[in-house]
Amino acid sequence: MAYITLLHQKRIILAVTGSIAVYKAVDLASKLTQAGALVDVIMTEAALQFITPLTFQSVTGRPVYTNLWEVGHGSGLPTHIAHVGLGEGADLLVVAPATANTLAKLAHGLADDLLSVTALAARCPLIVAPAMDGGMYLHPAMQANLHTLRERGAIIIEPDEGRFASGLVGKGRLPETPALIGHMRQALGQRGGLKGRQIIVTAGGTREPIDPVRFITNRSSGKQGYAIAQAAVDAGGSVTLITTTHDLPLPVGVTRVMVGSAAEMLHAVLDHSTQADALIMAAAVADFRPDRVAEQKIKKKDDSQEAPTLTLTRTPDILMQIKERRRTSGFPRVVVGFAAESEHLLAHARAKLERKGLDMLVANDITAPDAGFEVDTNRVVMLDADGSQTPLDLAQKSWIAEAIIARVAAKLQD
Ligand code: C5P
Repeated sequence: MAYITLLHQKRIILAVTGSIAVYKAVDLASKLTQAGALVDVIMTEAALQFITPLTFQSVTGRPVYTNLWEVGHGSGLPTHIAHVGLGEGADLLVVAPATANTLAKLAHGLADDLLSVTALAARCPLIVAPAMDGGMYLHPAMQANLHTLRERGAIIIEPDEGRFASGLVGKGRLPETPALIGHMRQALGQRGGLKGRQIIVTAGGTREPIDPVRFITNRSSGKQGYAIAQAAVDAGGSVTLITTTHDLPLPVGVTRVMVGSAAEMLHAVLDHSTQADALIMAAAVADFRPDRVAEQKIKKKDDSQEAPTLTLTRTPDILMQIKERRRTSGFPRVVVGFAAESEHLLAHARAKLERKGLDMLVANDITAPDAGFEVDTNRVVMLDADGSQTPLDLAQKSWIAEAIIARVAAKLQD
């Protein structure tokens, strides 16, 4: 995992408890550090049975805390009293994996080790990721403790189902690192500029059917749209992603609506955007579709070279219909379009922005090999309805997405 802007310089307390899933917490600590976070690990007595502090120290490059009775002079914490110093100024306290014992202690406010005392002293959001074998997770006592924690504002990450170390199968496995980090991003995002805003994003190329097994599509991978959905969650938005592709990991916190054709995407966009704050149309919507869809698979004739001729017709223009909707209802408040052009990029983009009544248009030059379809990087120009234009250097699609989202948040604040 690479750098994540939202995590940069964030102080995260990662508390690990005595579960075999602790090996996954090493990966989590490493990925968080690579993403730019400052990770302070607390290990409980039971966690020390599985793994040594050196492992976490090595991946985080920071001291690891195991003892309530040690005074943390020289640790770089705001105060030498470790349980206070750890909590002070922390952005998140994450307990992963969280055992039944630790969760019970947290629910009841017990304070007999560094983790439980820190949890009482810290004022940052608390995330817990339960991990336990043998059906313990489903025990009413466990569920009651989780209920108590949830009521108090803690974020509980649902464990995965699957095989346990015991060989039993059930619910109670610690989710993988990307899911854990996804929840952390969603929690940290709550301070962002899109808090309370409803954001609709579209992604991917539409699929226009020819017959039950064939379709026409384009080279859009959906990567830029998915990155925008993640950036919108990072900024605190409530995000719906209307997409044709499920090949990419869905960002935690995003509601996905799967569609196929341009007509299906139109209906989904109209349905979901009646009260939306922003619509970001990153999807490559087909302009043409076969004018009739064969009910049965079109068969070739073995004794002839004959091939069918496809007649195409226009698809609905989603943004033009949204323009009409906006005229009467005022929603979505902000609309962003995309333009993929192979020539006269800025002139075509400006004309499109005006014709479709957009607040902003993101123009891609699809002739460059390192920008546009399929690749992880992009080079775009953001054009504004006020006539200004902002070129962005070649960058990861995630970074481009953040720039677009920052602009959308600013427009919503105006
Ligand atoms: O007109 P053009 O397809 O180049 O415009 C691109 C922008 O319009 C994109 O934001 C795309 O999602 C949107 N679009 C649309 N409906 C179409 C075609 C494109 O909303 N039928």
